[in-house]
Amino acid sequence: MQKKRLVVLTGAGISAESGLKTFRDSDGLWEGFDINEVATATAWRKNPELVLDFYNERRKNVKNVQPNSAHIALAELEKDFNVTIITQNIDDLHERGGSTNVLHLHGEIFKMRSVQDESQIYRINDEIKLGDLAKDGGQLRPHIVWFEEPVPMIEIAAQMMKTADILLIVGTSLVVYPAAGLVNYAPWQIPKFIVDKKLPTINSLYNLTGIEKSATEGMKEIIGLIKKYS
Ligand code: APR
Repeated sequence: MQKKRLVVLTGAGISAESGLKTFRDSDGLWEGFDINEVATATAWRKNPELVLDFYNERRKNVKNVQPNSAHIALAELEKDFNVTIITQNIDDLHERGGSTNVLHLHGEIFKMRSVQDESQIYRINDEIKLGDLAKDGGQLRPHIVWFEEPVPMIEIAAQMMKTADILLIVGTSLVVYPAAGLVNYAPWQIPKFIVDKKLPTINSLYNLTGIEKSATEGMKEIIGLIKKYS
C-alpha cells in the first residue's frame, strides 16, 4: 500500500534546542543584528564584507551543533510516511538528522554562488571573503535568500503542499511571507498539526491540532497522534 504523504514546514524553532538562535525570540538573532545591515539585497550592495562576516559566523555555529531529537524524529517518520520537509532553515540539521527529502526555501549555509551566473553554485565549509571569485569571475556570495529577493522554490513548495495527506508545522512564527502562506495550499480537510513553544495565531486552518511545547517534547507527542493516519 502507498505510504501517506506527510508534508512538514519547519522554522528556526526546530533547531533552537541544538543551540542555534531563532530570529524573533527574546534572544533571537534579530535582537543582536539589524536585518537591514546583514540580510537584505541592499545590505549586500552597501557593505558586502559585513554580510559575509555575518554568514561566516553563522556557518561556524552550524558546524559546531548537532541535530536534536526533533530532527531525528522527523527522519524516523520516513518509515511510515512519504515525508517531504519544506524548511525555512539554512542549516543542514534535517539532513544530518537523517531526513532524505528536504527543500530549503531560504537557501543553504554550506552553499555559495556567483553574483553573475547564479546557477554557478558551490559547496563552502569555511569562510567566504571579499575577492573570492567564481569561475565566471563573479564575487562569491552565500546561497541564501535575502529579504528583498524572490524565493525561487516557492512554486515547487506550494505544489508539494497541495499533495499533502497530513500537514505538520514545527517551530516557525509564520510571519515571513511567502513561506508562511504555504500552509494555505494544504488540502482544506486534511489533519494538520503545529508544534511550537509559543503557538502562533492561525485562524485560516481547519482541522488543526496545536501542541504548545518545545520541538523535542512536542514531537514525542506528535508521533503517537500522526501514526494513526499511516
Ligand atoms: N521548540 C519549538 N518552537 C520553538 C522553540 C523550541 N525550542 N524555540 C523557539 N520556538 C518557536 C518560537 O516560538 C517561534 O514561533 O520558533 C519560532 C521561531 O520563529 P522565528 O524566529 O520568527 O523563525 P522563523 O519562523 O523560522 O523565521 C522565518 O525569517 O528571518 C527570516 O529567513 C529567516 O527563515 C527565516 C524566516
